[in-house]
Amino acid sequence: MNCFSFLFGRRKSPRKGIPDADDELSSIHNVKLYTYKELRTATEDFIPVNKIGEGGFGCVYKGRLKDGKIAAIKVLSAESKQGVKEFLTEINVISEIKHDNLVELYGCCVEEDHRILVYNYLENNSLAQTLIGGSQSNIYFNWRTRCKVCIGIARGLAFLHEEVRPHIVHRDIKASNILLDKDLTPKISDFGLAKLIPSNVTHVSTRVAGTIGYLAPEYAIRGQLTRKADIYSFGVLLVEIVSGRCNTNTRLPVEEQYLLERTWELYERRELVGLIDTALNGDFDVEEACKFLKIGLLCTQDAPKLRPSMSTVVKMLTGKKDLDDNKITKPGLISDFMDLKVRGDQKKPDTTITSSNASSGSDNLDNSALLSGNTSAGTFNFTTLYDRSI
Ligand SMILES: Nc1ncnc2c1ncn2[C@@H]1O[C@H](COP(=O)(O)OP(=O)(O)OP(=O)(O)O)[C@@H](O)[C@H]1O
Ligand SMILES: [Mg+2]
Repeated sequence: MNCFSFLFGRRKSPRKGIPDADDELSSIHNVKLYTYKELRTATEDFIPVNKIGEGGFGCVYKGRLKDGKIAAIKVLSAESKQGVKEFLTEINVISEIKHDNLVELYGCCVEEDHRILVYNYLENNSLAQTLIGGSQSNIYFNWRTRCKVCIGIARGLAFLHEEVRPHIVHRDIKASNILLDKDLTPKISDFGLAKLIPSNVTHVSTRVAGTIGYLAPEYAIRGQLTRKADIYSFGVLLVEIVSGRCNTNTRLPVEEQYLLERTWELYERRELVGLIDTALNGDFDVEEACKFLKIGLLCTQDAPKLRPSMSTVVKMLTGKKDLDDNKITKPGLISDFMDLKVRGDQKKPDTTITSSNASSGSDNLDNSALLSGNTSAGTFNFTTLYDRSI
């Protein structure tokens, strides 16, 4: 049984690619609609061998579309409570957003309660499966490639934050959401998805170890979601790319387990160079690599207002703007606020998040993201997508 039939069961034959009401389509201009039958054919009936991944939104399959294009087909696992029109309105917004460093949405399928997104397929997987996390990928990321990846991600995010109107907060910037094309050009995936699934279903996936390490403290604890939270996540990613290390690694000695903490420590000791990936075999521009690490620290500062905008980050990464070394303050770390325990639950696939402060009844933690909703499943309940705060 594929993941789709498991979730929704067998269905009557749906009307081909046509949403429930005819007028639903009138306001939608740019979205290509695929029939469920076409996507079934493309993925050979969603057979497991075509499944390329699974995340907080559902299963992703590789498929060949009728026109010969290879696509990544994402079957949203939660039955959307949104009507067809609301869903298509959101999709319409996403499909209008095009940039070299953003994954392209080809279209979607909205037959009955199927909600499926069809994306451009990226050949070289994600940063999580290649550079970070010690996988067996045979891609070698030399220093120039790493620079291109960092700058590309920064450009894509600057575009979402500053050029798209209204501005879009990605809210889940992390290594698994950075896909790589055949030339290793980075493409940010999953932007604009927050509104597509019901608010009681988690869409900040806690399944993948390390997700928590990307969350800005003010977002994780107080639910304050602004562009500055994305900038924090970007900063973490930047340090991961330069060091070739995942933000959290519990197999390392205690003092080295948290990458940001380690980065700050080495920065204070003026030993940042010690963090640069040894896999580069010394073949990198030391000054530039240390500058990237410092930009990572600038982006992860505890006070959101001290973090630079993404367009400023692009300028600093590309050498068009100097960075003031003396301005860097200590990174915000969730462990500074509360003792978060993250433990894998044997029975449930999701990681469990608990807090030692959870029972303290502290008022200022009442609306904490980590404490809201169902903590045993690590549920996050935010639907804010557009940031008008800055
Ligand atoms: N457009 C794509 N091209 C190639 N592979 C893709 C594409 N989209 C997703 N994938 C693969 O599917 C995997 C799962 O993606 P998905 O976005 O569902 O989960 P995730 O990124 O791991 O977590 P989250 O749900 O929090 O975003 C990715 O890690 C990637 O390997
Ligand atoms: Mg993803």
